[in-house]
Amino acid sequence: MEENISNEIDFDKIDIKSEPPTEEPFRQYFYMAKCREWVKDFKQRNGRLPKSFVLNMGCQMNARDSEKLTGILSNIGYEITDGEDEADFVILNTCTVRDNANQKVYGRLGELNGCRRRNPHMKIALCGCMMQEPSVIERLKKSYSFVNLIFGTHNIFKFAELLYMTLDAKGMVIDIWEDTDKIVEELPVERKYSFKSGVNIMFGCNNFCSYCIVPYVRGRERSRKPEDILREVRRLVDDGVVEIMLLGQNVNSYGKTLEQPISFAELLREAEKVEGLKRIRFMTSHPKDLSDDLIKVMKESKKICRHLHLPLQSGSTRILNQMNRRYSKEQYLELAGRIRREIPDIAITTDIIVGFPGETKEDLEETLDVVKKVKFDNAFTFIYSKRTGTPAAAMEDQIPEEEVKERFDRLLKLVQETARGQVAKYQGSVMEALIEEVNANDDTMVTGRLSNNTLVHLPGNASMVGKVVQVSLDECHGFYYMGHPI
Ligand code: SAH
Ligand code: SF4
Ligand code: F3S
Repeated sequence: MEENISNEIDFDKIDIKSEPPTEEPFRQYFYMAKCREWVKDFKQRNGRLPKSFVLNMGCQMNARDSEKLTGILSNIGYEITDGEDEADFVILNTCTVRDNANQKVYGRLGELNGCRRRNPHMKIALCGCMMQEPSVIERLKKSYSFVNLIFGTHNIFKFAELLYMTLDAKGMVIDIWEDTDKIVEELPVERKYSFKSGVNIMFGCNNFCSYCIVPYVRGRERSRKPEDILREVRRLVDDGVVEIMLLGQNVNSYGKTLEQPISFAELLREAEKVEGLKRIRFMTSHPKDLSDDLIKVMKESKKICRHLHLPLQSGSTRILNQMNRRYSKEQYLELAGRIRREIPDIAITTDIIVGFPGETKEDLEETLDVVKKVKFDNAFTFIYSKRTGTPAAAMEDQIPEEEVKERFDRLLKLVQETARGQVAKYQGSVMEALIEEVNANDDTMVTGRLSNNTLVHLPGNASMVGKVVQVSLDECHGFYYMGHPI
């Protein structure tokens, strides 16, 4: 399932004996052509194509980056596998938002070291957010010297070139950039799903919430030009995509720094016009920048899904100030209330952190109060994780873990209760679902997603995947429905 662009590169026309071009993306096409020669040679030597495995360990933005890596690998001629066991080239696309994300990477590296002993061809690459931390690179150099390639978030477009350098190299190839103002367009992508796709609209983050490492590892905010985004959307639709998810750390500040500024709401209006596109989602909205115009566009739209992910983080104004979130409890409640009034069938989901430095029992009560008042349709709850280099890491009153665990459990119980109540509201009604997959354990059942992001399981078969069908929501089972097609 390649997008048009990858088919348009005519590798045979590239003279790989000449000097590499300096301009992007042509320089990368040149290195892809060189890698293709290497793959041909591998096939001659081994009687098979080399295999690669890309493991995504992070958020939707990382997942989209993984699709870009896969697109380049398959253009080069690698066979893509879904496990590391038989892979000749393994890439871990890492996340570092919380410490447990990092621990997973070290665990996985230990396992890969075992696989590598069984397959001497195997090369291991690491990329993604965690690689932007200098202390991580030091540790990898010292204790994981078997890793072959390390690159970061800012130079991912250079993957073909770095891969070429790695193929015959001994030792570690490391290329990390501190930041970039560059956005390279027109590189190949291979999607995980044929019918839906993420679309980056911006990169980086300027918000510097005091607990968060993302601005340090993803760099300053940069928006793609609307014409580039819309061209990508049209191409995706031509290629069978019916649902897109516009991706950015804070989509509500999209476009403000472009030469010809445009708002996120205006971008949505343009995306809505793309014929053949059925659904539009986006991620993530920061409450401080959510405009009335956005609510209006959502309300009037036939394509924008009835789902808004609106991270709360804390319900205590005091803690929100410490977090540098730039809204108060009251402002959040007012905003959520306004959205629910304007768009009554919308699902509001959120992220909440428990155990931020200095958080008291009273602060937690404030958070529980917001959960009760807003009645989130779903909430991701996290225990605060100290990230080196962030302002919160230097704050006094870091809270002992036992205490946080208890608060976390209380919060989790409450969010589950409210979410159950919210999800069950639609029992007995008929709604549209986009069918996403055949059930792994029962091939007479398929799973679809409602506009409000709730899942529904229904009888069906593989021919329904990628189609929008009317489904009767018969029975609510906590967070999902059992239903039947109408
Ligand atoms: N840009 C998005 C969030 C990206 S990170 C936004 O602002 O909404 C996803 C979530 O991880 C955040 O919403 C936050 O709840 C959580 N998170 C980020 N840093 C964290 C930390 N240090 N400890 C615990 N959770 C954290
Ligand atoms: Fe992190 Fe805040 Fe940026 Fe989200 S908006 S990525 S939480 S700094
Ligand atoms: Fe995403 Fe994790 Fe990076 S949440 S932006 S992959 S640190």
